[in-house]
Amino acid sequence: MKDFKKSVIYQIYPKSFCDSDGDGLGDLRGIIGKLDYIKELGADYIWMTPFFVSPQNDNGYDVEDYYNIDPRYGTMEDFQELAAEADKRGIGLMLDMVFNHTSSHHQWFKKALAGDETYKNYYIFRKGKGPGVPPTNWESKFGGNAWEYVPEFDEYYLHLFDVSQPDLNWENEEVRREMAKIVRFWMEKGVRGFRFDVVNLISKAAYEDDYQGDGRRFYTDGPRIHEFLRELNENSFGQNPEIVTVGEMSSTSMENCFLYAGAESKELSMVFSFHHLKVDFAGNEKWVLVPYDFRKLKDILFSWQTGMAENNAWNAVFWCNHDQPRVVSRFGKEGKYREISAKMLAAAIHFMRGTPYVYQGEELGMTNAGFTEISQYRDVESLNHFRILQEKGLSQDDAYRILRVHSRDNSRTPMQWSDEKEAGFTEGTPWIGVNPNYKEINAAAQVGSEDSVFNFYKKLISLRKKYDIIAYGDITPIEANHPALLAYKRSWQGENLMVLCNFFEKELIWKPEENLKGYVKLIGNYSEESSWEDEVKLRPFETIVLYQAAE
Ligand code: GLC
Repeated sequence: MKDFKKSVIYQIYPKSFCDSDGDGLGDLRGIIGKLDYIKELGADYIWMTPFFVSPQNDNGYDVEDYYNIDPRYGTMEDFQELAAEADKRGIGLMLDMVFNHTSSHHQWFKKALAGDETYKNYYIFRKGKGPGVPPTNWESKFGGNAWEYVPEFDEYYLHLFDVSQPDLNWENEEVRREMAKIVRFWMEKGVRGFRFDVVNLISKAAYEDDYQGDGRRFYTDGPRIHEFLRELNENSFGQNPEIVTVGEMSSTSMENCFLYAGAESKELSMVFSFHHLKVDFAGNEKWVLVPYDFRKLKDILFSWQTGMAENNAWNAVFWCNHDQPRVVSRFGKEGKYREISAKMLAAAIHFMRGTPYVYQGEELGMTNAGFTEISQYRDVESLNHFRILQEKGLSQDDAYRILRVHSRDNSRTPMQWSDEKEAGFTEGTPWIGVNPNYKEINAAAQVGSEDSVFNFYKKLISLRKKYDIIAYGDITPIEANHPALLAYKRSWQGENLMVLCNFFEKELIWKPEENLKGYVKLIGNYSEESSWEDEVKLRPFETIVLYQAAE
């Protein structure tokens, strides 16, 4: 049985990973062909974002049928083969369960719209506050009001995301039973883990206007959320202790995460929280341009690290996923320091207490998309906000500048396999443009090259297997107020680990309180010697990780 604390999880966005049949969309057979690559990297699990039948308004996060695979991605036979081939390589598959909402094309919703009361009760329908006035002023995460009017009923339905993603009514026991059944179905197909999409939004507190925010306080970490998760655990994945689970927790609080991912709480194995990825927002407002706040980033990372540890709860640690811009473009630096900064950022989180996630292409130091035309964008959230920003009075150029930094499409460009046509992703025309830098940044060039970003990630993953301190050690932040250094110490059974990262281009000199003579270097991102004994000198974006064995 794998220990999820010693595991590393590789995330695949199937649509952009590898296309085996030339239609421009990645597919399951494409993934099968790349399992050796993932094995070479050393990942233990693959989390795949949804490939179920879907109209693809939100690239599969709008599920029409939870039991069948969208033909664009392949067949159930392909899936079975993928699971078997992954298993042969010691890799488990994790599926993405989108349970806060379905697609509006789901048969339940179609029946609901046809007036079937049983299925209307699967969703959240409410009367408006008056003619043309929705039940509450909540905003959809993708822009606009979160309620859609249905004239036949003179009622509205709730959609916290796109209008094509109606929220499910978890107060209805029948809905909860359906969800557990879906999980059990995939467990029987040999799936080893689940990621639950925005799962802390499923329990709504009250349908009231929000005069302080966008409504999230009425549905985030709601009153019955822990009960619902424990029930789902008991009725599905909890029946097999080998299954690993992660909940995507939108705008959550740490106190709730102590329970979501508590060792004793029988909810989930771990959580994704996102506060550290809002340090380049203005409050909760993402569609603005503000420089990122390094001290805030550090504060948030450290408070979650120590808080979760003190409460015996487990973090997922990550910078990237299909909703986030590329980290090297965000907190590192493209150009001369791209590889160095990509490695530093990797080390910064891989030694933290938690299970690391690597998002496809992150291990190559892939960068943001660099799109310049709205016709290049595909993401529903980006397209909506491009329009909304201009409606608010921003110039088109400013709207473009914001999209270039924050759009989710930054991480959705095709995986860069080689310097061949379309980066080796497809023989056809990719559904979204390939980043032109694939000639320089690609897997073929990196796998065999010792100094590559790929091999740095590979080494980080193998260190986790070799040194138990990485998974089990205590963590102590160091120099929490330093304006450029991110440093922490791990300790376990007399061993120590010091992780030192310079987050900026300027060289940094730091005098450690503790003499580091007894430490040896485990890994670093400069090939030339580093120095750390009396004083630590860190070159631009340098990281060094030092280790001291037990006496
Ligand atoms: C999660 C997914 C995101 C999706 C949203 C709605 O945040 O990661 O891609 O759009 O949920 O399902």
